[in-house]
Amino acid sequence: MQTQTEILSKAREFVKQELATDSSGHDWWHIYRVTSTAIKLAQAENADAFVCELAALLHDIADEKLNESKTAGMQKVKTWLQENAVAETAVEHILEIIGTMSFNGGNNKPMQTLEGRIVQDADRLDALGAIGIGRTFAYAGWKGHLMHNPELAVRENMTSEEYRNSGGTAINHFYEKLLKLKNLMNTAHGRKLAEERHAFMETFLNQFYQEWEAEV
Ligand code: ADP
Ligand code: NI
Repeated sequence: MQTQTEILSKAREFVKQELATDSSGHDWWHIYRVTSTAIKLAQAENADAFVCELAALLHDIADEKLNESKTAGMQKVKTWLQENAVAETAVEHILEIIGTMSFNGGNNKPMQTLEGRIVQDADRLDALGAIGIGRTFAYAGWKGHLMHNPELAVRENMTSEEYRNSGGTAINHFYEKLLKLKNLMNTAHGRKLAEERHAFMETFLNQFYQEWEAEV
């Protein structure tokens, strides 16, 4: 029998190896941050810390970008959990969390359990605040997008489709997604952190626009 600490440590090694070659924004350090936040939220919300930590560690392993299909990705996670003798109820729970999370943007099926709500909040928090700003500009650079184009007419209420067709900029991504996230948070502690990170992004945007026009 492996202890939970041993399972978590093996999961860390597995994920580092699997994501070593990733260039889609899901590098190991994203996992590291989401896991740290999930642990913190689990404590604050009195949730099952083992399930939260393990689900956070594995949450991007099933990503479509890294697998032949979503099903193949989910099977990879399941196999790993079973080979490492994770208790059956925890296996089911973790698969349910990761399966629901990877529907992101799709049918928006709500998370079924407190642990699921926590891991989803932790993932969303990594898109906000200073880290979220950094990731957004890194992604835009990787895509070859401009950081900002003031002539891009529509900002608010743009659909994802319209946004993509518009060519997209880093600044636009704030309106398309990031500034909406605080209202989608599941847990009280997640919401509080999201509100702080949201305020920081608004401060950043104000300063950005002022510098753009040489007003400050
Ligand atoms: P997630 O971790 O939520 O699955 P994605 O894979 O969609 O995130 O994106 C990785 C990072 O890049 C996130 O921080 C996200 O906010 C950012 N990002 C996603 N799409 C864009 C875009 N079109 N322009 C700028 N940043 C983006
Ligand atoms: Ni993620």
